[in-house]
Amino acid sequence: MSNYSIKSLEEYFQVYRKSVRDPETFWEEIAEEHFDWRRKWDNVLQWDFSKPQVKWFDGAQLNITENCLDRHLQIRGHKTAILFEPNDPQAEAEHITYRDLHERVCRMCNVLKENGVSRGDRVCIYLPMIPELAITVLACARIGAIHSVVFAGFSSNALATRINDCDCKIVITSDGSYRGAKILDLKSIVDSALEECPQVSHVLVAKRTGQKVQMKAGRDKWLEPLMEQAYADFPAEIMNAEDPLFILYTSGSTGKPKGMVHSCGGYMVYTAYTFKNIFQYREEDIFWCTADIGWITGHSYIVYGPLANGATTVMFEGIPTYPDSGRFWEIIQKHKITQFYTAPTAIRALAKESLDFVTKYDLTSLKVLGSVGEPINEEAWHWYNNNIGKGQSPVVDTWWQTETGGIMISPIPYVTPTTPTFATFPFIGIQPALMDDAGNEIYENQTQGKLCIKFPWPSMARSIWGDHERYKNTYFTAFDNCYFTGDGAFRDEVGYYRITGRVDDVIIVSGHNLGTAPIEDAINEHPAVAESAIVGYPHDVKGNALYGFITLKEFGETRDRDNLMKEINQKIAEQIGPIAKLEKILFVDGLPKTRSGKIMRRILRKIASNDTENLGDISTLLNPEVVQNIIDATS
Ligand code: PRX
Repeated sequence: MSNYSIKSLEEYFQVYRKSVRDPETFWEEIAEEHFDWRRKWDNVLQWDFSKPQVKWFDGAQLNITENCLDRHLQIRGHKTAILFEPNDPQAEAEHITYRDLHERVCRMCNVLKENGVSRGDRVCIYLPMIPELAITVLACARIGAIHSVVFAGFSSNALATRINDCDCKIVITSDGSYRGAKILDLKSIVDSALEECPQVSHVLVAKRTGQKVQMKAGRDKWLEPLMEQAYADFPAEIMNAEDPLFILYTSGSTGKPKGMVHSCGGYMVYTAYTFKNIFQYREEDIFWCTADIGWITGHSYIVYGPLANGATTVMFEGIPTYPDSGRFWEIIQKHKITQFYTAPTAIRALAKESLDFVTKYDLTSLKVLGSVGEPINEEAWHWYNNNIGKGQSPVVDTWWQTETGGIMISPIPYVTPTTPTFATFPFIGIQPALMDDAGNEIYENQTQGKLCIKFPWPSMARSIWGDHERYKNTYFTAFDNCYFTGDGAFRDEVGYYRITGRVDDVIIVSGHNLGTAPIEDAINEHPAVAESAIVGYPHDVKGNALYGFITLKEFGETRDRDNLMKEINQKIAEQIGPIAKLEKILFVDGLPKTRSGKIMRRILRKIASNDTENLGDISTLLNPEVVQNIIDATS
């Protein structure tokens, strides 16, 4: 039996039991046998969810990039580490070997150092999916600086909020980015963000599109010449296992995004171990995760997990529909992809297109199909399984979160029998629990409850940057001695989990986590708006779409409604980004409120979903009459 590579269901049960009965010995063995440490830990685990405090491998010293790069140089220096597939299908793919990547990361370290970055500093990375993104991430890790990657689809306001929250002094960006047939002007987004961030003293700009950009003297520098001049070696900074590796922002129920802080040691161990097993990774495989590195999926399963295993990981710059809807399948054929990991929203969008886009290509290289980010509905699951996997490649529906760092509930392909819409069993070391509304654990199967995790796992976020109290309140106060995920789940008779969706005010749209509060704040900034409430409703491609119920100030009543809708969505795009735009807007006379003045979103959700038969008890509302008005307005 190998604890590191699980090959049968029996082995899964054995290893799982071991990981739960004696987690410390279990993780100690994994950590010891499969990673390079400069110094061993003093303790495998110390934890107290009431504080909350969690430390894995404390006292150990390492640098994650020695595990992702240096240790591979001898045996696989000439192997492709990053396979870059550009937006333009005619442009040549770039094979960056482990040796090249090591060298480019070291050069980048020297560039960052010369521009004032040192251990512990926060570095904001706002780049498209080009090699410089992965290189900068790794360079920060090698220096011991804390990277904060901001998805390059976020607006300048959202970027400024994130830069200021963790007080970055430097931003790495590019002149522009390609997205299908569009070119986005990234540098000017950074420029307007930095009007709000006076502390940023350096901006390094990678050249991608070649478009003309403004360079602010004394602050902005082109990256390329600095990289060319930089020395190609850089000794890795020796970090403590519990030192922060990165901050990644995720939406919450309140306005401000939460900067989840991940640590060096535990994160490395868990992402590498999950990558190996959940994708059944073998040395000759070509792994492709279609996420953007701006999200946790990209951090863990484009960069760190694959590279820690010495894998070839694909970075795709483009979108699934450019130049046509066959792009994903063309890339799978071209690079002989063995594991493909994408989001249900992409599957649903591509399933709407002609099957000719799929059948044109040879997909026989595929061994594992992954899904992540939102529940995968049955129809999409079957389409993926039948047409992409041809019934031969197991679909792994992986449930996890920015906060969890790595995959938590998932089948192990060729090991766990899959069932559509079920993420199946907890991964090794993960102890889920379902809770009822009274806060008690539900032990029976065939039940639904709020999903919690009872025991720490190595890659869990350690805090929210600058606000440990919020970390505690968000995740550790709803249920005693448990991490609360914010999701609901159903557990069937064999113990398989199906994630039923968020139980808080976060809505997952096209796999993106959107808090309602920041969107409402953006809408309320429009001078004609009095009040707003956002809810999600089912959408056949996006999973959920956003429905905004908005009341207007008196003078707004006279405005042209179509223009108002455009302006409101424009406001949202400016404040957050286009991903948060509303699909539907309804101007109403009033919003249903409780006597304490709280908006009853439950009712709005039902109305948005066309489920007005079962509105429940509305008699306790302060203003029950508005409900019928809203229903009438929707029809
Ligand atoms: O609601 C769950 C949903 O996505 C949320 C986490 O979003 P984020 O932090 O952006 O991370 C996404 C990528 C890991 C979860 O709370 N979610 C994620 N994966 C699944 C899912 N819902 C159902 N099934 C999944 N496989």
